[in-house]
Amino acid sequence: MTTFKEMVHVAWDAAWNHGQVDALDDIVDPEYALENTELGRTSGLAELKAQIREMRAAMPDLQTIVEIVIVDGEDFAIFWSATGTFLNPFGDVPPNGRTLKARGAVQGTLRNGLIMRERVAWDPSIEMLADLGSPGLGSAFEDAGTSISEGRPDDSPSFEDLKEFNRKFVSGVTAVTVRDTAGRPRGLAVSAYMSLSLDPPLVVVCVQNTSSTYPALFEARHLGINILSHSQKNVVEKFASKSNDKFAGIDWHTGPAGSPLIHGASASVEAEIKERFRAKTHVVIIARVLHLEVSDIAPMVYKAGKFFDGASLEEIKISGNS
Ligand SMILES: Cc1cc2nc3c(=O)[nH]c(=O)nc-3n(C[C@H](O)[C@H](O)[C@H](O)COP(=O)(O)O)c2cc1C
Repeated sequence: MTTFKEMVHVAWDAAWNHGQVDALDDIVDPEYALENTELGRTSGLAELKAQIREMRAAMPDLQTIVEIVIVDGEDFAIFWSATGTFLNPFGDVPPNGRTLKARGAVQGTLRNGLIMRERVAWDPSIEMLADLGSPGLGSAFEDAGTSISEGRPDDSPSFEDLKEFNRKFVSGVTAVTVRDTAGRPRGLAVSAYMSLSLDPPLVVVCVQNTSSTYPALFEARHLGINILSHSQKNVVEKFASKSNDKFAGIDWHTGPAGSPLIHGASASVEAEIKERFRAKTHVVIIARVLHLEVSDIAPMVYKAGKFFDGASLEEIKISGNS
């Protein structure tokens, strides 16, 4: 008679190494549940099959090996290892050509010799992406209904109302810059910048995932944030465009970690990317400032789609605010 251990080896190899995900039907109970304690969610066999397909699509050479299967009464544990090359997108995460080398384990409960419940200790949306150099994407895979990446409830404000609200907010304009894998300087105009904390020195930028700079921002470990000066109209025009070489005709230098920093900016920082969170159309990047350059040149001001000279602002005196 075929043992559970033998069945696991056969079904696992068929599903993970050959994409025959229906082979898993032979080793799971009809009420199978996959628990992910880290993400606080439980899913079923259909989701597991979809996840395997997605991982195999992202890493076409994915090979996984069942190293040990331990069965103790109704309890079991499977220890596995995997290798694969990240060649195609995984969800919204662009491939980076890196090689995954991972080891993990699942443990769970059997019913009538079939897997009824299992807990994962390694989740592709967190550990796999972290192993592949794209950490901090857990939120991209939150459950429907709880995620900020969900659609609009009926009573949400209209886009027009939201735009009207946003038009009241005054900001500067930055050029977020980065080196792509070929070492080419890349960048885009970004007004969605803020200082998050001084200690640790963290900053935030938000970038739309349709941006051509987005893959480079995923691949990179560092980025530059240049607060543009009131005289850098040409830089905004270039960095808000889809030009292939936005740095042509623009003077820039390299920060200590290699990020492009633009001459004549009001201020520039180079920062190490620490976290990336996906919010449907955008990615929120949190980075730790490593290097600062601050000039006396007044910044450019952006309000309601128009640009203003930050040198000619009229101060409003607020009592107690010296
Ligand atoms: C004033 C201004 C502010 C902008 N702010 C942002 C922003 O915060 N995030 C973003 O992703 N795009 C922003 N954009 C749009 C991008 O700069 C623009 O889509 C650019 O063409 C993207 O270039 P890329 O696709 O080559 O990366 C802004 C554009 C302007 C003019």
